[in-house]
Amino acid sequence: MSYYHIKHLEEYFQVYRKSVRDPEIFWEEIAEEHFLWRKRWDKVLEWDFSKPEIKWFQGAKLNITENCIDRHLAAKGDKTAILFEPNDPSEEAQHITYNELHERVNRFANVLKEKGIAKGDRVCIYLPMIPELAISVLACARIGAIHSVVFAGFSSTALATRINDAECKMVITSDGSFRGAKTIDLKGIVDDALESCPSIESVLVAKRIDSDINMKEGRDHWLQPLLDDASGQCEAEIMNAEDPLFILYTSGSTGKPKGMVHTTGGYMVYTAYTFKNVFQYNEGDVYWCTADIGWITGHSYIVYGPLANGATTVMFEGVPTYPDWGRFWQIVEKHKVNQFYTAPTAIRALAKEPLSFVEGYDLSSLKVLGTVGEPINEEAWHWYNENIGKTKSPIVDTWWQTETGGIMISPIPFATPTIPTYATLPMPGIQPCLMDDNSEEIKGNSTEGRLCIKFPWPSMARTIWGNHQRYKETYFSAYENKYFTGDGALRDQTGYYRITGRVDDVIIVSGHNLGTAPIEDAVNEHQAVAESAIVGFPHEVKGNALYGYVILKETGEDRNQDNLRKEINQLITERIGPIAKLDKIQFTSGLPKTRSGKIMRRILRKIASNDTSNLGDTSTLLNPEVVQEIMDNVL
Ligand code: PRX
Repeated sequence: MSYYHIKHLEEYFQVYRKSVRDPEIFWEEIAEEHFLWRKRWDKVLEWDFSKPEIKWFQGAKLNITENCIDRHLAAKGDKTAILFEPNDPSEEAQHITYNELHERVNRFANVLKEKGIAKGDRVCIYLPMIPELAISVLACARIGAIHSVVFAGFSSTALATRINDAECKMVITSDGSFRGAKTIDLKGIVDDALESCPSIESVLVAKRIDSDINMKEGRDHWLQPLLDDASGQCEAEIMNAEDPLFILYTSGSTGKPKGMVHTTGGYMVYTAYTFKNVFQYNEGDVYWCTADIGWITGHSYIVYGPLANGATTVMFEGVPTYPDWGRFWQIVEKHKVNQFYTAPTAIRALAKEPLSFVEGYDLSSLKVLGTVGEPINEEAWHWYNENIGKTKSPIVDTWWQTETGGIMISPIPFATPTIPTYATLPMPGIQPCLMDDNSEEIKGNSTEGRLCIKFPWPSMARTIWGNHQRYKETYFSAYENKYFTGDGALRDQTGYYRITGRVDDVIIVSGHNLGTAPIEDAVNEHQAVAESAIVGFPHEVKGNALYGYVILKETGEDRNQDNLRKEINQLITERIGPIAKLDKIQFTSGLPKTRSGKIMRRILRKIASNDTSNLGDTSTLLNPEVVQEIMDNVL
């Protein structure tokens, strides 16, 4: 029986049973056999969900970059670690070998040190998908600095909020970025953000688009000359297993984004373990995840998980539409990609285009297809299976979260029989359960409830940066002694899980988590707006789109409504980013509220989704008459 590389369903069940029966022995054996530790742990696991406090491999010492880079050098120094595919298909791809990655990470790490960054300092990384992004992440890890990558589609306000929350000392960015035929002025966004970020001492700027940008004397430095002057040797900082590795922000139902803190040892073990099993990576394979490193998928399954396995991981700078809708498949053919991991929203968008964009390419290298980020609908699943996998590549529908650090529920390809829309079975070590409305665990199969996890796993986030109380309230208070995911799920007669979607005020749009509260805050900032409520409604490509109900102040009532809509979306773009723009904005005189003043979002969701056959009891509302008005004017 191999824990690390499961090949048959029976083996999966054996491994799973072992992982539940003896979790500490199970994880200890994996940690021992497959990783490089500078000192062994004293204790595998210590946990208490009531505090909550979770510690894995306590007392152990390591550096994750030694595991992701150094230990591969002897056997595969000349193997490609990162295969960079640029935005422009006529620009040459870069094959960065493990030897080169070692040298480049070390140089970068020395530059960080030279600029005053030390163990425990926070470094904000705001970069496009260029090699410097992966390299700077690893350089931080090399010296024990905590990276906080902010997706380079976020606005300057969103960037500033994240920099200030973590009190970052440095920002790493580029002069700009390519996105299809467009360029984006990243440095300008950083400059705007830094007007309100007192903790920032220096900015490193990679040159990518060669644009004319402002460099603030004493604060901003071009990266390349610093790298040229730095040594290619940098001793790895030896970290405790529970030292923070990174912070990554995710939206919550309320208020400001939550800086999820992931620590070093457990995160490494779990992401490496799940990468191996979920993608069945074999030596020589080329693996490609299309996510951006600005999201958890990129952290765990472009950078850390693949590199910890000595894999070749593709990093793609561009978009699926440039120069045309065939780009993904052109890249698969060109680099003979074996494992391909993307989001349902991308699949739905591609499936709408003519098949001629797929047919011209040789996709025979593909062995495993993955999806992540939101439920995949049956139609998209079949399109992917038939046209991309040619019905021979299993689809792994992987369910997990920023908070879980790694894949939690997923088929193991060639072992777990797949069913469209089902994430199927928990990974070894993961103990999911479903809870009912009375906070009781629902036993047995053929059932539906709220998805919780009842036992710790190595890569779970340990806290929210600077706000442990919020961590406790958000994840460990709804159900005693359980981690609450915020998702609903059903379990079929065989024990397979199907994720049905969020049960809180988080909406997943094109695979991106968006909290309604911060968007409402942005809308309410508009001088003509009195109040707003935002809900999701089904969308053919995005999965969900955003619907805003807006009450105007008296002063706004005479304004042109289309102009107002534009201005509101402009505000959202400035405060959060274009991903949070509203698809529909309905102006209304009121919002349905309970007697305690709470907006009844359930009703608003149903109206926005054109599902008004059963609105439930509205008589207890403070203002039941407003429901009819909203229904009459629905967009
Ligand atoms: O609702 C679930 C959905 O995405 C949420 C987590 O979002 P985020 O933290 O941004 O991480 C996304 C990438 C791991 C979950 O709570 N979700 C993620 N994967 C799936 C999914 N919903 C259904 N099926 C999935 N495979």
